Amino acid sequence: MKPFGTEFCDRIAIAQYSDGAWSVPSVEPLAPLPLHPAAHVFHYSSTCFEGFKAYRWSDGKGRIFRLPDHVARMQRSAKSLYLPVPDADMLAGMVIDVVHANLADIPEPPASLYLRPTLIGTLENIGAAAAPSTEATLFVLASPVGDYFAGGAAALKLLITEKFRTTEQLGSTKTGGNYAAALGPTLAAKRDFDVDQVLFCPDGDVQETGAANFLLISDDEIITKPLDSSFLHGMTRDSILKLGAELGYRISERNFTIEELLEKAATYEACLSGTAATLSPVGTFVYKGEEIPVRDGQPGPNRKKLQTALQNIQYGLEPDTHGWLTEVG
Ligand SMILES: Cc1ncc(COP(=O)(O)O)c(C=O)c1O
Repeated sequence: MKPFGTEFCDRIAIAQYSDGAWSVPSVEPLAPLPLHPAAHVFHYSSTCFEGFKAYRWSDGKGRIFRLPDHVARMQRSAKSLYLPVPDADMLAGMVIDVVHANLADIPEPPASLYLRPTLIGTLENIGAAAAPSTEATLFVLASPVGDYFAGGAAALKLLITEKFRTTEQLGSTKTGGNYAAALGPTLAAKRDFDVDQVLFCPDGDVQETGAANFLLISDDEIITKPLDSSFLHGMTRDSILKLGAELGYRISERNFTIEELLEKAATYEACLSGTAATLSPVGTFVYKGEEIPVRDGQPGPNRKKLQTALQNIQYGLEPDTHGWLTEVG
């Protein structure tokens, strides 16, 4: 299988917004988009997207994980960028249509079909720096992706920084600019400290990495930052907290500092949560030039237990008691 995000199904769903209304969405062959060079998105970053997965079950049908929640997050992102907000039923229908059209391309678990709804401002006006795009294109791209942990779940090395990941206004918006903002610090950290990712902790407040949420996990507690506007409200984070509570973990959604994090590293497991990797183990922190191991530096048992609980639902090995899956096929 090709690297994550580089292989695409040959059908996408697409809809256009103009004159105050959405066109009827259609499923079309994957092809380059005809965009005017003055399109708002190119100049003023009017763009947001989503990322989530559909799984193939042994009955040959697809199951999309937490579709309504991802649709709602996309609507919040669109709203915060003053883009036309897609109707929830329309967007969910486009995702279902794309999964249906590409059903044969969903690989067997642990591989899956990654879904990428994307909304861009297409107003042709380079003078609209301080005005929203009143025209937009919405499409849903699908990409078969492999097992993130093929070859084993290697423990990651994170640089702890007091820098901001992005701006206060757009911290919880899934927009391209946030990834652009995190890129410089991440590349510098990789170059200077040979780390995998950066854990952004502005003013000492432990938030998230460039593309995943952060959790501390012991045998009986999960600690993570409570939802606020500074970071992306991950669906994996939310799912792990719900499953963790059911498995008897105490859920501590509270702010914590770098100081507390480094103190807890001796006894707690540290994990990144996100759609791509579910729960990735963190083995080492780098802070002020010093390397601090997380416990013995190896992936821990609680990560494995929580990840398995989540994947068993996604793969159809345990009942979906939360109604998280949408059947397609
Ligand atoms: C900045 C950021 N934080 C967190 C996440 C994790 O979100 P989710 O669990 O919904 O994939 C992602 C991935 O989409 C992300 O890009």
